[in-house]
Amino acid sequence: MPRNTIDDRVPLPAPRRDGTVSLEAALNARRSVREFGVAPLPIEALSQILWATQGVTGDERRRTAPSAGGTYPLTLHVATGNVTGLPAGVYRYEASEHALYRVLDGDFRRDLYGATLGQTASAAAPVSLLIAATYERSTDRYGTRGMAYTLIEAGHAGQNLALQVTALGLGTTAIGAFREDVVREVLHLDAHEHPIYLFPVGTPAG
Ligand SMILES: Cc1cc2nc3c(=O)[nH]c(=O)nc-3n(C[C@H](O)[C@H](O)[C@H](O)COP(=O)(O)O)c2cc1C
Repeated sequence: MPRNTIDDRVPLPAPRRDGTVSLEAALNARRSVREFGVAPLPIEALSQILWATQGVTGDERRRTAPSAGGTYPLTLHVATGNVTGLPAGVYRYEASEHALYRVLDGDFRRDLYGATLGQTASAAAPVSLLIAATYERSTDRYGTRGMAYTLIEAGHAGQNLALQVTALGLGTTAIGAFREDVVREVLHLDAHEHPIYLFPVGTPAG
């Protein structure tokens, strides 16, 4: 499939800043979900999940997850195949604008299935989100300790994602087992971006 790089901004619906599911209920209900129904994911849900993971909050334009020294080494990448209002493609989340930028056209879920060593969740879910990191944003300030800081931050962001998904009545699982080189190629990451954590998201099967 041709992989023409295009630049296309997709504004997202504004995220809700409150909800009806308590934090305790989301903590209690969160479970890894690996099988998904065929229902498309509404773009509003994707927007909400992106915001919960790395969205901007407050007057100082910080984010939903903490970052060592406010260095923000994480980037968020999206592969969609079945999201209402959003053509199948690969996108990059721009937190400061709460917008997606289209990177590639096409449905790359089968490629992610291969990259995750045949984990069916990445092929079946309507969308997968990848947390990637540019370690230098942290290590330039903190030396090698910045590597640990960056991975800790990915954990914070991943748990935000999982709890928001649960609160929306959707499902996800963390995926750490994948071939970094293939994920980087499929999602068209920059050379300095390292894929860390993948989350297929959808409606739980059944
Ligand atoms: C760092 C990390 C990597 C993981 N990688 C995978 C994975 O590649 N595939 C998968 O199906 N689950 C993966 N998981 C999910 C765990 O298997 C799951 O969290 C664990 O079995 C506990 O179940 P629970 O999440 O339902 O509480 C991963 C979890 C973590 C924290």
